[in-house]
Amino acid sequence: MSVNKEVKRVTTNTLQKMKAAGEKISMLTAYDFSFARIIDGAGIDVILVGDSASNVIAGHETTLPITLDQMIYHASSVIRGVERCLVVVDLPFGSYQSNSDIALASAIRIMKETGAHSVKMEGGAEVIDSIRKIVSAGIPVMGHLGLIPQSIYKFGTYAVRAKEEVEADKLKKDAQLLQDAGCFAIVLEKIPAGLAKEVSLSLTIPTIGIGAGGDCDGQVLVMHDMLGINTEFKPRFLRQYLNVYDQATLAVQQYVKDVKSKDFPNESEQY
Ligand code: KIV
Repeated sequence: MSVNKEVKRVTTNTLQKMKAAGEKISMLTAYDFSFARIIDGAGIDVILVGDSASNVIAGHETTLPITLDQMIYHASSVIRGVERCLVVVDLPFGSYQSNSDIALASAIRIMKETGAHSVKMEGGAEVIDSIRKIVSAGIPVMGHLGLIPQSIYKFGTYAVRAKEEVEADKLKKDAQLLQDAGCFAIVLEKIPAGLAKEVSLSLTIPTIGIGAGGDCDGQVLVMHDMLGINTEFKPRFLRQYLNVYDQATLAVQQYVKDVKSKDFPNESEQY
């Protein structure tokens, strides 16, 4: 998509100012050009090219299988559909956990090959050296704490995280570490609302919640869940705004009927 000079782009500074002004940040996932165009045009502040593509696009059970090359494909498709919003791309599992040189190389590939504006990484103290190195290279990093799906086999469940004091204390320390390392925002996933509020108030950078209550500085949902494309996933925190699954099913059923009955195409639908 060509650059429209009239459009005021959302940057990491914009998000910082929004937090300071008490304006909530809206964020949704997208994985392709067409949906990115709809979401950006509708006025979203941030698009996350999430590794949830592994679930909702590729049909895997977890986010672990998606590769860096596949994330680059999704992110470069999204970027072509975006004029205004900030685009954040998940570094996928295996592309940053081994050491900070590999992490930096992965982040550089995302920035160079997709044109995206920033990367997201899961974890706190465990990945802090890599975050520092990536930020030092001039790449904005969004952190991600609480339920971190790339560690699902460590947790063993997608249940609410940090309900106990020890885990809540670690999360608070990690949030401070991420801010000190230069992260521009932090996703807080599936943690008690009270803890998310405390963390949000303690930080100068914005928090973006998913299943973390209304006191985060912004909210994120997976597009396929909120549009009802994927109807099996119905956690308590999800608000479903459409039922695309049912509507698309009806449309396809009608098309099959029209073809079988020779109603489609009619005279005005042919040359
Ligand atoms: O991959 C993703 O969609 C995410 C969101 C759930 C925050 O990380």
